[in-house]
Amino acid sequence: MTVIAIDGPAGAGKSTVGRAVAARLGVGYLDTGAMYRAVTFGVLRRAIDPYDIAAVEQVAMSMDLDIRDVDGASVVIVDGEDATGDIRGREVTESVSAVAANSAVRAELVERQRSWIRSEGGGVVEGRDIGSVVFPDADLKLFVTASARVRAERRVAEIGGDVDDVEASIIERDRKDSSRADSPLVEASGATVVDTTGLSIEAVVDLVLDML
Ligand code: DC
Repeated sequence: MTVIAIDGPAGAGKSTVGRAVAARLGVGYLDTGAMYRAVTFGVLRRAIDPYDIAAVEQVAMSMDLDIRDVDGASVVIVDGEDATGDIRGREVTESVSAVAANSAVRAELVERQRSWIRSEGGGVVEGRDIGSVVFPDADLKLFVTASARVRAERRVAEIGGDVDDVEASIIERDRKDSSRADSPLVEASGATVVDTTGLSIEAVVDLVLDML
């Protein structure tokens, strides 16, 4: 069973790299950020305060979550409702760091991630704590990063918006993800750092496939 862990900050190119590597190896791909976003979607749907620890935990424990990769994008079904578009929206993006800081939510999602790997018999898993917490014994651990400016420019090219605004929100989310008490974004021990700042994503994919 081969497990490949890809961590790094928002917008560094983890998804593109992860999907290309998974396709090349003929294995599945799991976007764990989409799982934290899905819980946040469920929380907001029920008009629960994202900082209400017990109520948010309850949503994570009870939610029916189905994530599958279709044509290079994660299709996310939350309690039977298609949340694929909404999980990328501003409301979810603004509240997801609070939900991701909830230890009970993390424990539940880590369990679901491990069970996904068991049922798939391996795969590529992308997130913030995959090489450090979820699969510390992964066969390959990558920490994919890039400057905040470059990450903002890439995001704007994909979904539009103002580069300065997007950069500010990326820096703020990095700060929250890196400073939270439970499973902060860190370079896992044994991880190879891949800085994509001066590289095209295609060049990064080639680099990683060479490493493999
Ligand atoms: O990768 P993304 O932007 O879709 O992730 C959404 C949020 O979830 C982000 O703020 C970090 C958090 N996250 C996390 O804490 N642990 C993970 N394994 C994946 C994402």
